[in-house]
Amino acid sequence: MERMEEEKPKKKLTAYLLYCVATAVFGSLQFGYNTGVINAPEEKLRSFFKNVSSERSGEPFSDGATTMVWSFAVAIFSVGGMIGSFCVGFMVNKFGRRKSMLISNILALLGGGFMGLSAVARSYEMVIIGRFIIGVFCGLCTGLTPMYVGEISPTAVRGAFGTLHQLGVVIGILVAQIFGLESLLGSDTLWPVLLALTILPAIVQSIMLPFCPESPRYLLISLNQEEEARKALVRLRGTEDVGEDIQEMKEEGMKMAMEKKVTIPELFRSPNYRQPIIIAIILQLSQQLSGINAVFYYSTGIFDKAGVTQPIYATIGAGVVNTVFTVVSLFLVERAGRRTLHLIGLAGMAICALLMTISLSLVTTNQSLSYLAIVAVFGFVASFEMGPGPIPWFIVAELFSQGPRPAAMAISGFSNWTANFLVGLGFPKLAEICGPYVFIIFMVLLIFFFIFTFLRVPETKGRTFDDIAQGFSASAAKSPQSPGPEAVVVGLPESKDVPPMSP
Ligand code: GLC
Repeated sequence: MERMEEEKPKKKLTAYLLYCVATAVFGSLQFGYNTGVINAPEEKLRSFFKNVSSERSGEPFSDGATTMVWSFAVAIFSVGGMIGSFCVGFMVNKFGRRKSMLISNILALLGGGFMGLSAVARSYEMVIIGRFIIGVFCGLCTGLTPMYVGEISPTAVRGAFGTLHQLGVVIGILVAQIFGLESLLGSDTLWPVLLALTILPAIVQSIMLPFCPESPRYLLISLNQEEEARKALVRLRGTEDVGEDIQEMKEEGMKMAMEKKVTIPELFRSPNYRQPIIIAIILQLSQQLSGINAVFYYSTGIFDKAGVTQPIYATIGAGVVNTVFTVVSLFLVERAGRRTLHLIGLAGMAICALLMTISLSLVTTNQSLSYLAIVAVFGFVASFEMGPGPIPWFIVAELFSQGPRPAAMAISGFSNWTANFLVGLGFPKLAEICGPYVFIIFMVLLIFFFIFTFLRVPETKGRTFDDIAQGFSASAAKSPQSPGPEAVVVGLPESKDVPPMSP
């Protein structure tokens, strides 16, 4: 079995496969863009809300009311995301992976349209409705893209391709930061264009998608269309010799034939799925409760408090570090493995959270500590992108076989969006209460996530979906009632240099 892998190590990277992955990653770009786009035009939107209210009733909103409408427009995006991510399972089971991506673009057109026309229509409600619809769309993207990419990728590069989702996200954030500059689209008159720009990638993706195949795993395992699956694989892999992939999928399909459609409650009831679903949820929580979006949503304020004189440049610097380190992770993930990178990232973040606390609490007495604050925030972001940024998004698709995958993506995506919502909403209040010590909370959480990952998360690098699922079944069989940490660690041995192959 090991010999087979050695003989054909590099056969599978075709231009067509890259085209399909790139097409899907437009969804990630959308998620990043719409996450980052709302920060820059804050003041423009606030005055728009005031103007409209005064046009309607002769009296502008008070500052408090404007803040309420503003916070609502920001937060409703995550509420949409929670709903969208929850619908992923239903969508992919009903329409398949490719058609779901195509259909979801209608939401981008609709949401972008509402926001883009809000100024002409003199309606702040349209901004809010648009943000909600875009949130639903982005929630779908965070499930659909990693699922499709994971399913069409060859095992050996599945992690690197999975990281492309996060690369799309961070590039989207950076593009939004740059386009949001006052001299570009962040001006008094052009902010509706900035918000509506999300329509463009939706159109491009809709043009590209019809040339991509449906996921072969979906065709074969879910629809039982072997011939179609074979055709898709031949194009993706660039070779007629796809018997090995087909065989692996068939085995996975045979195993799940008994429990075809796995519902969300079944994920928690079945001993085979309970372990991986808990791992998937906690990994997603480790991404959001690390505090990363406290930095992304509020970094300018943090730098300001730390005495940095030009906080806006430090914020853009954080966006650049974010992108660079996602690329670093892209190259490391198939070498170092998911588990190791996630552990390194969490540890690095915990240390940087401590450094941030030190600099924020002592900067009033020692001005030079503001440099430490910059280093700490950059280190925090860099560590995040080593593991906690990219890995949770794609590892969920790896932890589950075809049957439970849609439900698992839905529930874990929902957990991620809920935690995102809570941090976004709660951080300003927490910072008010805890002052410079606010990052201690994230440090404690990061230590918890580190310990959990160390004890429970298996390495999935280089292993087939079927093999990973078998590992969990084996550990569940050993200890069906309450599998302890060793059940997983023993059941799923550490990363192997040569991945086990299905016969
Ligand atoms: C991840 C997170 C997202 C965050 C981004 C920062 O994709 O899901 O919430 O804003 O990383 O790079």
